Amino acid sequence: MAKEVRIGLIGGGWMGKAHTTAFHNAKMIFGDDMPVFELVSDVNEEAVKAFAENMGYKRYTTNWRDVVTDPDVDLVDVATPNVMHFEMAKAALENGKHVFCEKPLSLTAAESRILADLAKEKGVVNYCGFSNIMNPANQYVKELVESGKLGKIMRVHATYDQDMLLDPSIPIAWRHKKALAGSGALGDLCSHLLSVSQFILGDITEVMGVQSIVIPERPVKAGSSEMAKVENDDVITFLVKYANGAIGDFSSSRVATGRKNYFYYEIQGTEGSVVYNLERMCEVQVYFKADADVDNGRDCGFRTVLLNPQHEGFKWFQPAGGIAIAFDDMKTLQAHTLMGAMHGKPYFCDFELGARVDAVNDAVLRSIESNTWEKAE
Ligand SMILES: NC(=O)c1ccc[n+]([C@@H]2O[C@H](COP(=O)([O-])OP(=O)(O)OC[C@H]3O[C@@H](n4cnc5c(N)ncnc54)[C@H](O)[C@@H]3O)[C@@H](O)[C@H]2O)c1
Repeated sequence: MAKEVRIGLIGGGWMGKAHTTAFHNAKMIFGDDMPVFELVSDVNEEAVKAFAENMGYKRYTTNWRDVVTDPDVDLVDVATPNVMHFEMAKAALENGKHVFCEKPLSLTAAESRILADLAKEKGVVNYCGFSNIMNPANQYVKELVESGKLGKIMRVHATYDQDMLLDPSIPIAWRHKKALAGSGALGDLCSHLLSVSQFILGDITEVMGVQSIVIPERPVKAGSSEMAKVENDDVITFLVKYANGAIGDFSSSRVATGRKNYFYYEIQGTEGSVVYNLERMCEVQVYFKADADVDNGRDCGFRTVLLNPQHEGFKWFQPAGGIAIAFDDMKTLQAHTLMGAMHGKPYFCDFELGARVDAVNDAVLRSIESNTWEKAE
């Protein structure tokens, strides 16, 4: 029986807006609990007031601590820059709140471990914002792998590339600073690939990486000649070994000329392979050896599977394949799963996953320092 969930949002930026819309949509599409937008916090009073009015929050504050202590808030939604996740999520857990925290869960594996353990101790819902887990395409690929249709998985080849920061005149921001973001392309982009890799293929045990800072300094603000140092990776590449015996290579770039949202992976098995690219969100390329062997391989080659209502999650948005679903639909599926978790339904995307991804990220950064393989523990 549907009830109300009172939401306290911290951070009224891109994700704050996406989460709020997703909670609305989850109610309308799935008949989930009624989201009550109780309180929102951001640093700029004028901006947070406008956000509250536009998005339907009852109250606003410029002090995020008001949100985590508010008796009328059930679920604290942390959608602030990375450096704040740890302190805000920890305070929310300590106050007994359910917590939805954007990715990466924190700046280090050690901090994320503290959050994952604390969430378990408190017994509250703890959801980490890896949106791609709920993409029906990734659910489909997981089913293909688990069904054995691809045979034994041998290799993964994956990259997440964007060129949003290619222009050197774009000013320095929190994403470029180690103290505020941790890593660069690794935590910001590649962590999404790692979450999906964990979902589909399980643990990565060892990694070995290299990184590059392509644009070493940026203006302190638009048009300024005063420059500030970029402290983290623009480009990252690393080799991985999986617990299941597969090997792979992962890369990410935030200065990848021409790439807009190129979240790409290829999984090669002994009986078949899949290729997926988020820029073509509703298309999964598949190759099954058994099909290709017909007619002595005359009709060989990958073929395109269009996402359709038979794929987990899709039918709620569109009645037939070939009608596109999009990023915001992943966010709605995420909000729906989170609402289900409030009623005890199982969910994969918890703080434990956040800590697991951050353990791999930390190992990659250690391997760059040590110039050798590092264990992802
Ligand atoms: N899951 C996804 O697909 C996805 C996509 C983009 C970003 N993210 C993650 O979401 C988080 C936020 O990213 P974004 O793109 O929305 O950033 P953003 O800059 O658009 O929004 C962040 C907001 O937090 C506010 N803020 C900063 N300090 C604050 C404080 N002390 N109290 C309250 N509010 C404060 C800022 O003013 C801003 O409005 C990041 O951790 C990022 O990695 C996830």
